[in-house]
Amino acid sequence: MKFGILGSGMVATTIGAKLIELGHEVMLGTRSPDKLRDWAAQVGGKAQIGSFEAAARHGDWLVNATSGSGALEALKLAGEANLNGKILIDISNPLDFSQGMPPTLFVCNTDSLGEQIQRTYPQAKVVKTFNTLTAALMVDPQSLSEGEHTLFICGDDPDAKAQVIEFLSSEMGWRDVIDLGDISSARATEMLLPLWIRLYMKFGTPRVQFKIVR
Ligand SMILES: NC(=O)c1ccc[n+]([C@@H]2O[C@H](COP(=O)([O-])OP(=O)(O)OC[C@H]3O[C@@H](n4cnc5c(N)ncnc54)[C@H](OP(=O)(O)O)[C@@H]3O)[C@@H](O)[C@H]2O)c1
Repeated sequence: MKFGILGSGMVATTIGAKLIELGHEVMLGTRSPDKLRDWAAQVGGKAQIGSFEAAARHGDWLVNATSGSGALEALKLAGEANLNGKILIDISNPLDFSQGMPPTLFVCNTDSLGEQIQRTYPQAKVVKTFNTLTAALMVDPQSLSEGEHTLFICGDDPDAKAQVIEFLSSEMGWRDVIDLGDISSARATEMLLPLWIRLYMKFGTPRVQFKIVR
């Protein structure tokens, strides 16, 4: 399958490398292609790199792995026509680092970044997931020695969500995926970040995860 990944940071490169390993055609989108040169060499020259617009045009499925503060700007550069009708997996978090650590949320409670993206691009099929765990665990959940842990997912389009859940299960090994409902559940999963960041600070590792026991 063709994936367009918007982003050049840890999430984009980790997911990009995994999708290439799985045999998919991947293009990463960035404003500065040069900064991905070393990474592209590491993945054996199999990654395509382009603008946000080129990556969005390339992908049948899209991944938003841009910073929360830059997400809407990046999607604007990607171009609405390249988003329409496509699954857009949104991993971004509305983190405001302007006052230092820990960051605050620049939208919360009655709205979320996931909803802002869905409202701005009503014809994109926004599926929010992966935003509550570190990149390495997104693509290799079984590597956490504590056993099964939980991935949250939400979005307005049931068919898009079902396709993403199937993909995450069959290609990335996710077993405990909880569908929280429509995209307004992004308020809840984005508001987990202040807790996740405190756990990261306490344990000194990003390899901490939520596990829902029922
Ligand atoms: N790091 C993790 O393990 C992790 C885990 C869960 C969720 N997340 C979330 O995933 C997202 C990506 O995280 P990350 O750590 O990989 O990278 P990041 O440093 O948060 O974001 C880097 C990306 O944001 C883009 N960007 C920043 N400002 C922009 C602007 N004004 N306009 C357009 N694009 C802009 C950059 O574009 P250029 O390439 O053009 O510079 C770059 O591609 C974030 O929202 C983060 O909260 C991260």
